[in-house]
Amino acid sequence: MNKITAAITAVGSYVPDFVLSNQVLETLVDTNDEWITTRTGIKERRLLKEEGKGTSFMAIKAAQNLLEKANLDPKDIDLVIMATATPDMPVASTGVYVATQIGATNAFAFDLQAACSSFLYGMSAASAYIASGKYKKVLLIGSDKMSSIIDYTDRATCIIFGDGAGAVLFEPNTEGLGLQDEILKSDGIGREFLKIEAGGSILPASEETVKNKQHFVFQDGKTVFKYAVSGMADVSEKIMQRNNLSHDDINWLVAHQANRRIIDATANRMGLDEAKVLINIQKYGNTTSATLPLLLSDFENQLKKGDNIIFAAFGGGFTWGAIYLKWAYTK
Ligand code: UT7
Repeated sequence: MNKITAAITAVGSYVPDFVLSNQVLETLVDTNDEWITTRTGIKERRLLKEEGKGTSFMAIKAAQNLLEKANLDPKDIDLVIMATATPDMPVASTGVYVATQIGATNAFAFDLQAACSSFLYGMSAASAYIASGKYKKVLLIGSDKMSSIIDYTDRATCIIFGDGAGAVLFEPNTEGLGLQDEILKSDGIGREFLKIEAGGSILPASEETVKNKQHFVFQDGKTVFKYAVSGMADVSEKIMQRNNLSHDDINWLVAHQANRRIIDATANRMGLDEAKVLINIQKYGNTTSATLPLLLSDFENQLKKGDNIIFAAFGGGFTWGAIYLKWAYTK
């Protein structure tokens, strides 16, 4: 019998309608379009503005988009993995709610949190469940409402992040397509440089923590940038070498959209042509767990069966890694 690999067989996405442009940010904080564009590549981002709607709202929309496109009965899904850094609430699990809402009543579900690497780690988890032979349909959703944890008076963070969601379906493949190899890394040295200090078990919410703005994302951008550039480029280069892939063998780089300069540095190290580097950061900013599936969704029509794709991400923790996957279908 051929070895079972885990292939992506369907993609869906959702972004909110509300657009926050660089021009509007200029009116909120001391910044300008030119600085944001040259330092990050971002022009605008989407925000989920409706009161009472959270990460699950976008996750459900993205999953429903996938179900419709793939003509899939949600009852056939075995497992829903919800990659997110902004769950609806600390307890209960957002993924469980999402699974029930989309009608995946035969699935079990859980949340996976690895900051901006949540979706990449989720690809590894989903693929392992499939490769085990125990599960046939694993829905991996990446959704984040970053606007719920961003201080819109802090120019170091509010220019970067946006809201959005994407979903992919993993299924078994016996043609050798799907996930081929992965390098996943983490290092707790990163905790100081990118975090939300309060609201967890060390520093529970109090009047004081709210007053001190400790429920918002804090980022030492310069330090994170340094680690991100070397971390993402290192694992991407290593996974190429380990699989005897030259730059000619690679069709696409699907990299976490945190900063255009980090993506370019990774692509350069891999020796890739610009045309092979998928980019949509200008439209959405950094949507954390949603960047990778939003790229797949936006560029799905260009991907061909058998294409060699390198996925790469870097995030808080620190967490980072690269995945080598062979695309399984042509639209
Ligand atoms: O996805 C999770 C992982 N996160 C990342 O990968 C993000 C990594 N970091 C970054 O993308 C970048 O560090 C930022 C985009 C956050 C910042 O870019 P930078 O090139 O590292 O800028 P900087 O922090 O070194 O600041 C350069 C200058 C400073 O002024 P001086 O000291 O040179 O006078 C800042 O005060 O730019 C100033 N500055 C700004 N100016 C206009 C900082 N933020 C802004 C701003 N608008 N929004």
